[in-house]
Amino acid sequence: MILNETYTLSNDVTIPKLGLGTWFIEDGKAAQAVRDAVAIGYRNIDTAQAYDNEHGVGAGVRTSGVARDELFVSTKLAAEIKDYDTAVAAIDGSLKTLGLGHIDLMLIHSPQPWDDFRGGDYAEGNRQAWRALEEAHKAGKIRAIGVSNFQQQDLENILSSCTVAPHVNQLLVHAGNTPAELIAYCESKDILVEAYSPIAHGAILKNQYVQAIAEKYGATVPQLCIRYTLELGAVSLPKTANPEHMRSNAEVDFVISDEDMDALRDLPAQDYGEHREFPVYSGK
Ligand SMILES: NC(=O)c1ccc[n+]([C@@H]2O[C@H](COP(=O)([O-])OP(=O)(O)OC[C@H]3O[C@@H](n4cnc5c(N)ncnc54)[C@H](OP(=O)(O)O)[C@@H]3O)[C@@H](O)[C@H]2O)c1
Repeated sequence: MILNETYTLSNDVTIPKLGLGTWFIEDGKAAQAVRDAVAIGYRNIDTAQAYDNEHGVGAGVRTSGVARDELFVSTKLAAEIKDYDTAVAAIDGSLKTLGLGHIDLMLIHSPQPWDDFRGGDYAEGNRQAWRALEEAHKAGKIRAIGVSNFQQQDLENILSSCTVAPHVNQLLVHAGNTPAELIAYCESKDILVEAYSPIAHGAILKNQYVQAIAEKYGATVPQLCIRYTLELGAVSLPKTANPEHMRSNAEVDFVISDEDMDALRDLPAQDYGEHREFPVYSGK
């Protein structure tokens, strides 16, 4: 069963293949969502400073009834933090807000602040933020460190100066949006890809072409989409606070044919509708 399967990062830390996304789960509801997910068998929970729910996520982890070392908790350094001192303080801030002794994975949320996504030159700022993560990693506060939304040149900037190479790059990956070259580059550098928005933030749910493929496997669209990202070799991070959805999203023990993998990869780009206002869905 997928909930028991793991990948191994380049530093030998294991990470569950399926995780729970928590963007848009409000802080007051996050603890219950985490407890529900853990009760169903999820062991990987993804949050971020920007989601304003680290407090609730941490409370859920602490009250889940499962030992801390059996759970994998990720958070992200806010995209706007591009200097060493602020990054050091924010890492300690996340530990405190989560109320946890360590974080399993912490990522730089974006190579640029959100209001300048894919804009100016933040190479020096990213190196400073990375140094803060490296030091927290070496101090045992964070078991693995990584980045998110980093393109090849953003990764090269870190790789050329780091003492610890990124273990993970969390990227927008779903049927209809498969950055194959970047995924291959990450693989070549032993950087595990995590697929965020595997259900296209909900935009793909009513796609009839995808529905027809899903039916061939007796699967739902979310199940097919989650399975698609797993078969690319990525961690999949579907978001839901609904225990029924959590349960069915973990029922993905089928194999998509090569032909259907190609069809899902080549799907026309999704229209994210009103969500296009978010930088990550802006097409940049
Ligand atoms: N690093 C980054 O920059 C970044 C950016 C975006 C997202 N992320 C991470 O990736 C996670 C997932 O991405 P996402 O939240 O954008 O979207 P997603 O997981 O692609 O889609 C979530 C949507 O799908 C629905 N859904 C989930 N399971 C379902 C099911 N079984 N049946 C029907 N509907 C279902 C959810 O509704 P219900 O809630 O009603 O189930 C919600 O509307 C985030 O929560 C976050 O942790 C990271």
